[in-house]
Amino acid sequence: LHGATLAAGLRAAGIRAEALLMNDREQAKRLETVERLAGRLLECGADRGALLVALGGGVVGDVTGFLAASYMRGVEYLQVPTTLVAQVDSAIGGKVAVNLPAGKNLVGAFYPPRLVVCDPALLATLPRREFRAGLYEVVKYGVIASRALFERVSASLDSLFHQDLPTLTGVVADCCAIKAGTVMRDEYEAGPRRVLNFGHTIGHALEAVTRYRRFLHGEAVGYGMLASARLSARRGLLSLDDEAAFSDLVRRMGPLPAIGDLSTTRVLEAIGHDKKVVSGTLHFVLASGIGATTIATDVTRTELRQALKEIGVKGA
Ligand SMILES: NC(=O)c1ccc[n+]([C@@H]2O[C@H](COP(=O)([O-])OP(=O)(O)OC[C@H]3O[C@@H](n4cnc5c(N)ncnc54)[C@H](O)[C@@H]3O)[C@@H](O)[C@H]2O)c1
Repeated sequence: LHGATLAAGLRAAGIRAEALLMNDREQAKRLETVERLAGRLLECGADRGALLVALGGGVVGDVTGFLAASYMRGVEYLQVPTTLVAQVDSAIGGKVAVNLPAGKNLVGAFYPPRLVVCDPALLATLPRREFRAGLYEVVKYGVIASRALFERVSASLDSLFHQDLPTLTGVVADCCAIKAGTVMRDEYEAGPRRVLNFGHTIGHALEAVTRYRRFLHGEAVGYGMLASARLSARRGLLSLDDEAAFSDLVRRMGPLPAIGDLSTTRVLEAIGHDKKVVSGTLHFVLASGIGATTIATDVTRTELRQALKEIGVKGA
């Protein structure tokens, strides 16, 4: 389904609609794209009553959301996510942003969409690697909030990879409910919403030190979760059985790209720059079981160094 097809369908139903296309590479998630699209909206005569529809993956969703937040001081928008990451994560929760040369998502807003339309059938054309990357986020929801979801994913991994629609729809719906429930309790990430960052502190650092070229976001989160689970188990928070069940599921999901040659010190530096460092304190999400988390503010560099080593970061 392309924007042009959607716009033609809406016009056929008597709704005035235009398709605005954008490059959806991560490099295009920047202010210049927002400016160009805002110019196109003006040319189309869009006023404050306009409704934007973000049809695409997380890049399109984040840019459209930011455009909606700022065009004429705010117009409404819908999310129609077409990747697994976008369906279970980025389309829900109202975080919208673009990147600056200095880093990802540095200019943005909390601006929830009026509606999110999630259709797992749209994932049929998604490359397997992108699908798998989304599945790491699905596993994350299991680890942070639902042992039942974790076990369902583990038991139906083949059906999920074959995109069996009833199985996939059930799993996507559960993830959406967990994300929406978490966001409703803490829209502006003052506390409880932080649990969604399980695996992300280390994941973001791995992405940053590899300049976003080696791992897809979900893959970096996969490594981040493995390291966080290890750290949680070392602290005696996560049982060794639960850690083994988790790492076994990650292994069965298929190969993560090799960690390669990375400097532990640089990864630690990148963790220090993370947005989850508030007033100098790192809020680190640990698993205290499958389906339960706790947030620690006393995770040491030594613990992080050890966990990174255990996932294969070997350089000094
Ligand atoms: N706002 C949030 O809360 C939040 C959360 C997570 C991620 N994000 C952001 O989301 C972005 C990543 O999103 P993503 O993983 O969806 O990646 P993406 O938007 O880059 O899409 C991945 C690739 O899949 C292609 N694609 C999209 N739908 C397709 C389909 N149905 N069939 C075939 N190909 C398809 C795209 O063209 C692209 O090449 C990042 O910019 C990240 O910062 C935001």
